[in-house]
Amino acid sequence: MTGTIDIKVEKIKKSRVSEYDINNVPFGKCFSDHMLVAEYSDGKWQNASIMPYQDMPMSYAMSSLHYGQAIFEGMKAYKNEKGEVSIFRAPDNFKRLNKSAIRMAMPEIPEDLFMNGLMELIRLDSSWVPSSETGSLYIRPFLIATDEAIGVKISDTYKFVIITCPAGKYYSEPIKVLVETNYYRAVKGGVGFVKAAGNYGRSLYPAKLAQQKGYQQVIWTDSETQQYFEESGTMNVMFVIGDTLLTPGLSDTILDGVTRSSVLMLAKEWGMKVEERKVSIKEVFEAIENKTLKEVFGCGTAATIAQIIGIGHNGKDYALPPVSERKFSTKVDDTLRSIRKGKLEDKYNWMMKVPS
Ligand code: COI
Repeated sequence: MTGTIDIKVEKIKKSRVSEYDINNVPFGKCFSDHMLVAEYSDGKWQNASIMPYQDMPMSYAMSSLHYGQAIFEGMKAYKNEKGEVSIFRAPDNFKRLNKSAIRMAMPEIPEDLFMNGLMELIRLDSSWVPSSETGSLYIRPFLIATDEAIGVKISDTYKFVIITCPAGKYYSEPIKVLVETNYYRAVKGGVGFVKAAGNYGRSLYPAKLAQQKGYQQVIWTDSETQQYFEESGTMNVMFVIGDTLLTPGLSDTILDGVTRSSVLMLAKEWGMKVEERKVSIKEVFEAIENKTLKEVFGCGTAATIAQIIGIGHNGKDYALPPVSERKFSTKVDDTLRSIRKGKLEDKYNWMMKVPS
């Protein structure tokens, strides 16, 4: 028994971990031994189990495939020098998953199912957590509608699943981004503030067009005026102008990123001026012109800090200050890594230890 929901455990007969160099695998392509699956039907969560990683039997009419009632989270587990495993800010991801569930008219996940299932899953697969300096076990909880039904309606049945995969760096190099003013990631009253699968699907075509022009990603602008920056690719975006850290304030088009919040907390602790507000394209390009723009970076779970070294806008490319001169984001990146690897005091209780 774990909490009020009984989670059955069926262990794999022989681990596959020795088939991989887990400190050196491409992001999101090799999955660890076990997964958690729970089902929702008849108005309640049931049949929770941790089982060997496997394919899902499903109907081609499964409603999430057609109408996108699908949400997810991304989080990470780290291994310290003693071999102990901890998960970064799991309660924050749990809360955000349920915020997404409410917005997408899906049932909320009980806290004991999420937390106990997560802890037991990572405990069982602790040998899959990389010990390298930049490695981690990426954790992907997701919730999908499973009704076999083509009519557009709120599903009566769901599956909550957690799968995990060892991960290294998401971006191997600093990136160049294109200011996107024709396509939008999110709109007022939409679902940009939650982790709905459709937010990512809609981003792929504009990203492909940007890649054809030599950029790795886009930097999104607001759909109403095209004058303000929103996010970059799948990440929140931050700017250091003069001695101030600037990032778009939370709204219904901006994801309340866990890495975003961690960066802001560290910046405030270090006495940096922090402004969460609308950040205009005009002020950023003026700051590039007058050389007060010091740093631009994306932040998210997968990449942690992704340095942005070039911005394209209106047919012109603007080079940004070299990464070697970026004191703030380099310090943030190092500090987060050290906290996660147990080398620095965890003042904010971000790390949740997984029992061995
Ligand atoms: C994140 O970095 O938080 C993400 O959501 C990226 C993921 C879609 C790979």
